[in-house]
Amino acid sequence: MTEILPVSPESVKLAAELIRKGEVVAFPTETVYGLGADAGNPDAIARIFAAKGRPQDNPLIAHIWDVSMLPGVISGELPEWARVLADRFWPGPLTMILPKGEKVCLDCTAQLDSVGVRLPGNEWARELIRLSGVPIAAPSANTSGRPSPTTAQHVYDDMKGRIPLILDGGSANVGVESTVIDARTFPVRILRPGGITKEMIFGALGDVEVDAGVTRPLGKDEVARSPGMKYRHYAPRGSLTIVEGEAGTAARKITELYDGFEGEKRIFAMEGHLSMYGGRETVSLGKDKREAAQKLFALLREMDDLGVKAIFSEAVDENDIGLAVMNRMGRAAAFNIIKV
Ligand code: TXA
Ligand code: MG
Repeated sequence: MTEILPVSPESVKLAAELIRKGEVVAFPTETVYGLGADAGNPDAIARIFAAKGRPQDNPLIAHIWDVSMLPGVISGELPEWARVLADRFWPGPLTMILPKGEKVCLDCTAQLDSVGVRLPGNEWARELIRLSGVPIAAPSANTSGRPSPTTAQHVYDDMKGRIPLILDGGSANVGVESTVIDARTFPVRILRPGGITKEMIFGALGDVEVDAGVTRPLGKDEVARSPGMKYRHYAPRGSLTIVEGEAGTAARKITELYDGFEGEKRIFAMEGHLSMYGGRETVSLGKDKREAAQKLFALLREMDDLGVKAIFSEAVDENDIGLAVMNRMGRAAAFNIIKV
């Protein structure tokens, strides 16, 4: 039985008791919902991998409620540049990969000697970690390969019968997972773009690198610096084709592809472009890129529920949160991107 309880002091306390007992509970964060368990308990970690059907070599990130929790979660001190980022962007959607400390078990990091650490912006998430008294390992609370959940209902759809409790904190407001950076060396390198953008990191440090795997598939001989980059992600059940180019030209190409497809189909377009697709079945990505980030995963799930076989989508520019949107859309489309 899987219970859904609204976040409250009582439900969060109950969730913390379950975490301390080695159980897995789903909880809201500002990015997406997480599937949490004690990062120091290998049996609890095994339950996360089982509930998600996650490949064993894909490490989990450890969530802390305050920087005072860092000793033992990481080994050694925060490097100077990581301290700058922590001061500026924590709490918030930034995960820093650092040398692993003894409080995080090797099963959590898939045997790596590094750990991704995140101090989430959602106050209920932080309260849960504080009351649990342990770092909480938490991947996104979806079945492996599906879009990440941005509501408690999405979590329920994937996890019913697999976990005892889902804390419902409403819709996640960032909508895409945290920015993951390798913070062990300078310049830091973005492995997964998110709500803390490359422009923001550049602004704080004066330098930043973006891993090649962020905007294109990795070649056969390239090493995935973040194991998660190897796997197809966020995949809708139907096909997704992205068309990139000037708005009018892209709209004509999308219209042509849409008209040529037989079956349940939709066009994803920015709010301001919807009128260019006269009469065809369109879905709004929102007024701007931030809204597109918030809505994307929910829309992909909705298309699955509607039995949509083909989606033709506009691209967004890759500045600011746009890089995260294009990274997730690109992966959902298996990088099936047409440039016009
Ligand atoms: O916003 C988020 O980060 C959400 C919420 C729940 O906090 N969590 C999340 O976790 O997205 P997950 O497991 O779905 O994605 C974590 C990503 C994976 O691609 C994983 O491969 C990478 O971070 N990762 C974790 N630890 C790593 C490490 N030590 N080295 C390299 N990559 C790592
Ligand atoms: Mg995930």
